[in-house]
Amino acid sequence: MIIGSISENKSIENRIAITPDVIKKYKSLGLEIYLSKGYGEHLGINDRNYESEGAVILNTNEEVIKNSNAVVQMNIPSDENLNALKNDQILIGVLNPYANEKKLKEIKSKNIKCFSLELLPRITRAQSMDILSSQANLAGYKAVIDSFAYFQKAIPMMMTAAGTISAAKVLVVGAGVAGLQAIATAKRMGAIVFATDVRLASKEQVESLGGKFLTVEGAENLETEGGYAKETSEEFKKKQEELLKETLKKIDIIICTALIPGKKAPLIIKKDMIDNMQSGSVIYDLAAPQGGNSDLTKVNEIIDSNGVKIIGESNILNKLPISASGLYAKNMFNFVNNLFDKEKKNFEINLEDEIIEKTMVK
Ligand code: NAI
Repeated sequence: MIIGSISENKSIENRIAITPDVIKKYKSLGLEIYLSKGYGEHLGINDRNYESEGAVILNTNEEVIKNSNAVVQMNIPSDENLNALKNDQILIGVLNPYANEKKLKEIKSKNIKCFSLELLPRITRAQSMDILSSQANLAGYKAVIDSFAYFQKAIPMMMTAAGTISAAKVLVVGAGVAGLQAIATAKRMGAIVFATDVRLASKEQVESLGGKFLTVEGAENLETEGGYAKETSEEFKKKQEELLKETLKKIDIIICTALIPGKKAPLIIKKDMIDNMQSGSVIYDLAAPQGGNSDLTKVNEIIDSNGVKIIGESNILNKLPISASGLYAKNMFNFVNNLFDKEKKNFEINLEDEIIEKTMVK
């Protein structure tokens, strides 16, 4: 059986689904790897690096698709490449099935089975495949590093003969995977860190990292059974707004990470709150692709509002593609390992396996 992966659209994506170090793992299952020419060149990984691990390099994406049983990707391939897929093949990636419903319906009608890794259930057995966690963790780290680069003051407190520099104050909005890594990173750099979330379980996690949790007075726990956030009531929104309005006057950097699965990101940082912030402050909005947590966020733009910079990245992981690809490639291998029937040496789709059933695009 052959696993293929074709070049991503490099104008929007630097990450890749197969790194040289996972090839041996695939081969140990009896799977061959076919890649298109120049697959990892933009990351400094040349074709010879892949070939020396046992991968086969083909000249075009079309050839790779034609010869593979399963195609593993980061993003959904272009229409041209999707059209090259044929009966009985498997496509695995972050396919964004809500946005790509029509395209996926068309290829499924050709009996192509599609699996989208952002649909993985957050169960213990799926942790090694959990691309949302591996990527969000890096995103939280990089958002802090990037925001500090835009901030024109030092981060830690420094007591010098020339005077004292006070520590920067960072607020992390949303303390999930990205938020917790943002808190840990900002703390390590010497910032004073605050965080807020609608899931009360996150309070203990924030505090264990040395952050100060900001609780909305009298708030109920807005956590679903799956561990995600629910949408907040109007009353909650009002209370959260009052809490943040005062707090933001003394905050230097906000890292926004609040999301609700399958919905537009909650709007938390309003224009009047931004007007109250000190000039030179930075808002780094990781929720930008889902609509943003701030009123002024624009995807791939840096907005300056009275000296406050609001930064909205479309794909922050493009800024550390080697680390992100390394983890993604391992997540992908673990998923394929679970999907592949080692006895029959085939891809038997066992819909009784929750991981397979939940990720299959229906
Ligand atoms: P996410 O990316 O969907 O959301 C990020 C954070 O924003 C969440 O903590 C959410 O509660 C928060 N949020 C949403 N609306 C908000 C609002 N209005 N104000 C403030 N905060 C708001 O979530 P993520 O990072 O994917 O994690 C969700 C949960 O899943 C967490 O409890 C995490 O610990 C859990 N998890 C479990 C795993 C497992 O058991 N295998 C693996 C990874 C995560």
